[in-house]
Amino acid sequence: MAILVTGGAGYIGSHAVQRLLRDGRDVLVVDNLMRGHQEAVRRLEPKAGSSARLAFARLDINSRPALEKLLRDHKVDSVLHFAALAAVGESVQDPLLYYHNNTAGMVSLLQACDAVGVTRMVFSSSCATYGQPPATHGPVGEDCPQNPISPYGATKLHGEHLLRDYMMGCNLAKKPFAYAALRYFNVAGSDRTGLIGEVHDPETHLIPVILQHALGKRPHVGIFGTDYPTPDGTCIRDYVHVEDLIDAHVKVLEALKPGDERHYNLGIGTGYSVRQIIDGVRRVTGKELKVVEQPRRPGDPPQLFNNPAKIQRELGWKAQVTSLDETIESAWRFMKNHPNGYAG
Ligand code: UFG
Repeated sequence: MAILVTGGAGYIGSHAVQRLLRDGRDVLVVDNLMRGHQEAVRRLEPKAGSSARLAFARLDINSRPALEKLLRDHKVDSVLHFAALAAVGESVQDPLLYYHNNTAGMVSLLQACDAVGVTRMVFSSSCATYGQPPATHGPVGEDCPQNPISPYGATKLHGEHLLRDYMMGCNLAKKPFAYAALRYFNVAGSDRTGLIGEVHDPETHLIPVILQHALGKRPHVGIFGTDYPTPDGTCIRDYVHVEDLIDAHVKVLEALKPGDERHYNLGIGTGYSVRQIIDGVRRVTGKELKVVEQPRRPGDPPQLFNNPAKIQRELGWKAQVTSLDETIESAWRFMKNHPNGYAG
């Protein structure tokens, strides 16, 4: 029995593959390499003598017959579904690309899973499904209304609804199935061995953008908006370390019993402002940083940080990395060693 990791060549998916192989699991990676890096998967090949096996297929999850055959050949019974496009701004410019990859892709994946009798799926959802909670909103719990304000957020909510509705069909047909939708806050950092990390092209995420500036690859860091109703005027986010995030996936997958429908937020429960992140990068890298204050970026909620109580109460999971500097250090280690991403 193998676990299918869709999007396993991407930033978060590759960290999942690494963890599963460490745990001795057989893994099938399916990735169309539109944004993923085959080199990330290559680096994770198990050492001789390891009981775990890793298989890789370059395939789009929309290619259903081929996907179904792969699932059958590898006897897949569980799925971690990361494959998706995930840039909010891009989704506004090209919504159909997002509906095709994320929404239609997930229909195809569920059809293939249904055909071969997959029993468990953990889906990468997003706090983008919450849209823009009021500026006065405190920590966001799972009961916060889901009103996405971008096509990206909408596709993640579609994913949750697809699972909910597929589950109803399974219950009627008495097919054993269980799923969890995990709503990520801002995922950051890299694996502690420095082997794999965050590589996007173009990079838009705050921590890697500042680190690229620290490396001299950008002339400055722009702060998108300094007049938000927050203590220092810049946006507040919850940065969860990627290895903690994956640990939650493993715990959730283990906990899933037939008939389960689980929804959890994944974040540390503390928010940091853009200025605090920039100060953190100054501390960790010891570099002077040139900061340019810029207008707000459309669609950015002023503050978004998690209430982590539910998953802690139900599964005993909480983020181990709660030090901002530790998260930044791990991202910096990877970036210093890979200034050109996986190309060198
Ligand atoms: N920011 C800057 N300058 C930059 C880059 C970002 O000031 O050069 C600011 C943004 O305006 C935002 C904060 O830093 O206030 C974080 O921005 P990111 O782009 O790193 O992350 P987002 O919070 O926009 O997006 C993240 C995930 C998405 C997810 C979204 C949900 O990356 O996948 O949270 O809100 F959908």
